[in-house]
Amino acid sequence: MTQENTTLITGGAGFIGSHLAQRIVRSGRKVRLVDNLSTGRRSNIADLLSEHAGRVTFIEADALDTAENDAVWKGVDQVFHLAASVGVQRVIDDPAAMMRNNVLTTDAVLRAAGRAGASVLIASSSEVYGRCPVLPLSEDAELVYGPTTASRWSYGMAKALDEHLALDLAQRTGLKAVVVRLFNTIGPRQIGHYGMVVPRFVEQAIRGDALTVYGDGQQTRAFCDVRDVTDALARLLDVPTAIGRVFNVGSTHAVTIRQLADHVLRAAGAPAHRIQHMPYQDVYGAGFEDPHDRLPAVDRLDHAIGGFRPAWTLDATLNELVALARGTDPDRLAQTAQPTPLEPRT
Ligand SMILES: NC(=O)c1ccc[n+]([C@@H]2O[C@H](COP(=O)([O-])OP(=O)(O)OC[C@H]3O[C@@H](n4cnc5c(N)ncnc54)[C@H](O)[C@@H]3O)[C@@H](O)[C@H]2O)c1
Repeated sequence: MTQENTTLITGGAGFIGSHLAQRIVRSGRKVRLVDNLSTGRRSNIADLLSEHAGRVTFIEADALDTAENDAVWKGVDQVFHLAASVGVQRVIDDPAAMMRNNVLTTDAVLRAAGRAGASVLIASSSEVYGRCPVLPLSEDAELVYGPTTASRWSYGMAKALDEHLALDLAQRTGLKAVVVRLFNTIGPRQIGHYGMVVPRFVEQAIRGDALTVYGDGQQTRAFCDVRDVTDALARLLDVPTAIGRVFNVGSTHAVTIRQLADHVLRAAGAPAHRIQHMPYQDVYGAGFEDPHDRLPAVDRLDHAIGGFRPAWTLDATLNELVALARGTDPDRLAQTAQPTPLEPRT
């Protein structure tokens, strides 16, 4: 590795991007973060920038605008493209802005990576599966969307277009592109304002409010700690056979949203009855549809990186989130923040 080995992370001041930056800088690389701070925050990367001054740099800019800026791309041989408009609420508020941002930015970043000769990983989403009913969801499954009159599908469709762009460039031009479909990712720095369930539950539990479960709470999801996710991403981009392929990344440990609420209440030491249900339509408007179950098949990832074994249990992550939200003293945090082995996959 030379002085010039630089990893560019778009969306680097966001939730996942800031953790990924921590993981990459530990491996000895230089890291350049590009973020327009639309949902990202300077505070996410403040410690990283001061601890690794000179090795981690931050450029506050739009990834679309910097795609042709040679200074931003100097020495870059690896790119993680995470910049995107994220969250159900933002998609519903302005689907057109989300689509323009997600697709045009990805196109520009992919072509810039090609010019630089850099390998590039793009963050797609489990949302591309739409309402595909076959579980666990495997990368070659049919993608099943609702009608275009329901804007909620636009996010998954935009991410699917991103995937097509990356895979087409990989096939036709030899671009070293890898696609990951991230499933529910949780951990410190995630914010609940845009429809993310875990930070919202934690905030409600800490305030002493009832946790608001949308629908009957029987819908299932699997939550993976961001540190396990970013470790997998960092390892995957180093695997030559991953080029031109799609990989699910997520936990295989499904819980109902009602069970998730119970876990959060327990972590917060709050009474178990403090849960209220709310119809989806009261939150997201009439006709909103949420896929009932989401569970990834991760065999492909497991095989590619020589073992994908998440170290964080759901409870370990939730305990840490509760402690952080309370500003708990560092000793308690150190005890609760240790990853503990997950129960074996089923
Ligand atoms: N968190 C999850 O559970 C999850 C699940 C599936 C996919 N993803 C994907 O992972 C990626 C990161 O998501 P996250 O959860 O960290 O969300 P986030 O909102 O914290 O991160 C996205 C970052 O991109 C930045 N950004 C947006 N548009 C930009 C642009 N044009 N130029 C520069 N910066 C821009 C935002 O300011 C933010 O910092 C996204 O691509 C998202 O679609 C996340």
